[in-house]
Amino acid sequence: MKKITLLIALIYFNSHAQQANVNPTGLVVTKAMVVSAREEASKIGSDIMKKGGNAFDAMVGTELALAVAFPFAGNIGGGGFMVYRKANGEVGSLDYREKAPLAATKDMFLDNDGNVIKGKSTETALAIGVPGTIAGVFAVHKKYGTMPISKILEPVIALAERGVVVTKKQEKSLSDYHDKIVKVNGETSLLSGNFKENDTIKYPALAKTLRRIQKKGRNEFYKGETAKILVDYLQKKGGIITLQDLAKYEAKWRKPLQFTYKDLKITSMSPPSSGGICLAQILKMLEPYDLAKMGHNSSDAIQVIVEAERRAYADRSYFLGDPDFVKIPIKELLAEDYLRNRMASFNPEKATLSSEIKEGEIKYAESTETTHYSIVDQFGNAIAATTTLNDGYGSKYYCDELGFFLNNEMDDFSAKPGSPNMFGLVGNEANSIAPQKRMLSSMTPTIVEKDGKLFMVVGTPGGSTIITSVLQTILNVYEYNLSMQEAVNAPRFHHQWLPDLINFEPNTFEIKTIDKLKAKNYLINEKPTPIIGKVDAILVLPDKKLEGGADFRGDDTAVGF
Ligand code: GLY
Repeated sequence: MKKITLLIALIYFNSHAQQANVNPTGLVVTKAMVVSAREEASKIGSDIMKKGGNAFDAMVGTELALAVAFPFAGNIGGGGFMVYRKANGEVGSLDYREKAPLAATKDMFLDNDGNVIKGKSTETALAIGVPGTIAGVFAVHKKYGTMPISKILEPVIALAERGVVVTKKQEKSLSDYHDKIVKVNGETSLLSGNFKENDTIKYPALAKTLRRIQKKGRNEFYKGETAKILVDYLQKKGGIITLQDLAKYEAKWRKPLQFTYKDLKITSMSPPSSGGICLAQILKMLEPYDLAKMGHNSSDAIQVIVEAERRAYADRSYFLGDPDFVKIPIKELLAEDYLRNRMASFNPEKATLSSEIKEGEIKYAESTETTHYSIVDQFGNAIAATTTLNDGYGSKYYCDELGFFLNNEMDDFSAKPGSPNMFGLVGNEANSIAPQKRMLSSMTPTIVEKDGKLFMVVGTPGGSTIITSVLQTILNVYEYNLSMQEAVNAPRFHHQWLPDLINFEPNTFEIKTIDKLKAKNYLINEKPTPIIGKVDAILVLPDKKLEGGADFRGDDTAVGF
């Protein structure tokens, strides 16, 4: 009996692409690599490893270098999540997500009639959650760092002093957000200028802040001069974050979410990110289908993926929140028979309408601006980290004295559970606002193992599209035999239950594929859609070399040696 089971398993798994003969098309290196949103940050991380530091040292350097080189989403005024896998196979994760201030209340974004006040959770100082990034990098360094923090911070501070060259894409982003930045900070604020490609922006105030942190450590940000300047600034702007909020902030080590997909073992972020659970649900629902046979981005494959996404996002919206405040039925949500049942209503001839999916009373989404980086070191340790200010440049509140933007992560809570928020989206009770609570996220830093060995490190920005972009990148490599870089480049699509629409990246899918889906009653978003995700990933090749996948949709770059 055992032999037959083994034979069936072998036939089953062998029908899938095994990555044996795929020519890499991204940067290939032999030892260590960082892929991030800016070359400057990837290089700082890679150089740290070249000098003998490990992936955890490189994480600290890369994260803080992104705060300098990529103020759009890199930050010390926001927060994030990090998943790691050590060379010995041990996995873990760190939650350095922002928290609601002590003075936050459930109804803080509602008017007297109980309606959401437009813009209050995104564009006012009340939108700012207690930042977690500095606590995060120091927690990582304390547990696993090997190089002195002063040495790691030196090139980051030098970059801030020397300045960062504006790229074409950054010129556009600063110009797109110019009016909003000026509205909040005035004409004389550092990033209120009209910057052009090849200009150099120096960050002397940020350099000074980082220099104090370098000298005095983590508590400089949470209890020292920096904390005092920050609270003073926020209170003048009408914010509610106090010195007590900063002093109480702690990053939290959490058990990551682990599950299998065929012969892959996947480690991803557990709540308060929805990323891991949602990715697990989708992949488990897809497991019985032969996606490879259906063909890459074929209408059949899109259809079954959309149906799994629809069902997972319905659950995500209803059940998930900060596990320190709400009980999340993780085991039940991931139970095989539950997920098999969820797909029982899938009819290959016709779309399931989201209104027919039971949990369809509630939905949830976040804005799309975040950043992800992936690291593998020369010792075999791997890190996937996703960090955010929420919107591009966060709340736009830029503390010129300290040199950084503050997040508007409070908008990731449900301002009014059970009814539409300012984006016309609906949240739920599990994610309602409470003092000290962490807001639900979609960030999905993920590490994939195959045959017990490190296989892929992957993640992306993109709000609710994060999960589906990570999903497609894994499938592109594993099921469709694309190289790491091809998997990142491949056109992406997205469905999140509500609104009941499939979004395709602009001008990337064949009309006949879309027509086939329409013929089965799938609703397609015909309006101009933005790009979906900016994936930065690393694949371990069969000869143990590393291939980077750096997303051309941004300035993302792989650097390694
Ligand atoms: N603010 C985006 C996220 O946390 O998913």
